[in-house]
Amino acid sequence: METILITGIGLIAKATGKLLSLKGYNVHYLTRNPNRHPALKTFKWNLSSKEIDVSAFKDVTTIIHLAGANIGESRWTKKRKEEILKSRTVSTQLLYDTVKANNIALDAFVAASAIGYYGAITTGKIFEENDTPGSDFLGKTCQSWEQTLNQFTLLNTRTVILRTGVVLAKNESAFQKLIKPFQNNVGASLGSGKQYMPWIHINDIANLYLFCIQNKSISGIFNAVAPSYMDNREITEAISRKLNKKNWLPNIPSTLLYLLFGEMSKILTAGSRICPKKIIKEGFKFKYKNFDRVLDNLLENN
Ligand SMILES: NC(=O)c1ccc[n+]([C@@H]2O[C@H](COP(=O)([O-])OP(=O)(O)OC[C@H]3O[C@@H](n4cnc5c(N)ncnc54)[C@H](OP(=O)(O)O)[C@@H]3O)[C@@H](O)[C@H]2O)c1
Repeated sequence: METILITGIGLIAKATGKLLSLKGYNVHYLTRNPNRHPALKTFKWNLSSKEIDVSAFKDVTTIIHLAGANIGESRWTKKRKEEILKSRTVSTQLLYDTVKANNIALDAFVAASAIGYYGAITTGKIFEENDTPGSDFLGKTCQSWEQTLNQFTLLNTRTVILRTGVVLAKNESAFQKLIKPFQNNVGASLGSGKQYMPWIHINDIANLYLFCIQNKSISGIFNAVAPSYMDNREITEAISRKLNKKNWLPNIPSTLLYLLFGEMSKILTAGSRICPKKIIKEGFKFKYKNFDRVLDNLLENN
């Protein structure tokens, strides 16, 4: 039985860990709060004191690195920005130093990055993996994050980085923020409505991590977004149709969103298309390519 170590017990970690367990893998989790998850095999780490329970790595063949402060949780103050960056770079460095110091022979290191790499801009361009990073906060953060992730190639470890779009999952924050206003009859498009929102269904992202573990020839950087290009207006129209609600309110102005959320509002009001062809070419098959199908699935028994 192969042992996989997953970092941070968040949305993607829970879904991926559950899938891996079902497929017969032994799953270890590195977390700041082991006591919160009595049903899982948890091990503690502390990024401030650089403490890490090395027994977490026993028999581990692959690390899936998902820990990081949530970018949509609170306003991007200077302190929060630092936490968003450091929770990714310091955690990766601690993993790298531990693997190196203990001569842990990994088959693979698979990690999240984000489509924020390309910058929060609305353009006609369709971004591919070899495009240059954006110069805004998320662009710079993803660039530094990926630099630390790529250190694993120095150990000759197969390294895969998944630049992930907005993950849509039942009862989870991003999806609830999309549908709640419509359920409460106050739904509207955001900003110009022309910004794209590359998304991926939670089952597809979990399957993609499994795919990257199982397909030993895969390495490098891949966009992890469904092959569906939809702008904010198309998304809000699809939601209002599905929920049988009118989409009659004017768009919420970007200036108001800026007043409410500050710089973070960019993740709502700007966005380009992102191309998933590279991972599809490797043989990955998305189950959820169609937004209506995602809505049917996530709104079931809601
Ligand atoms: N969900 C998305 O839409 C999306 C899109 C693009 C990229 N991603 C990336 O994919 C990764 C996983 O995403 P997710 O949605 O599963 O994230 P999530 O639900 O926010 O979970 C991330 C986990 O990281 C740990 N964590 C949080 N703050 C931390 C801090 N300051 N220091 C160290 N660890 C911290 C927590 O685990 P413990 O409490 O167990 O320590 C948390 O549960 C993240 O890096 C995220 O940026 C996600």
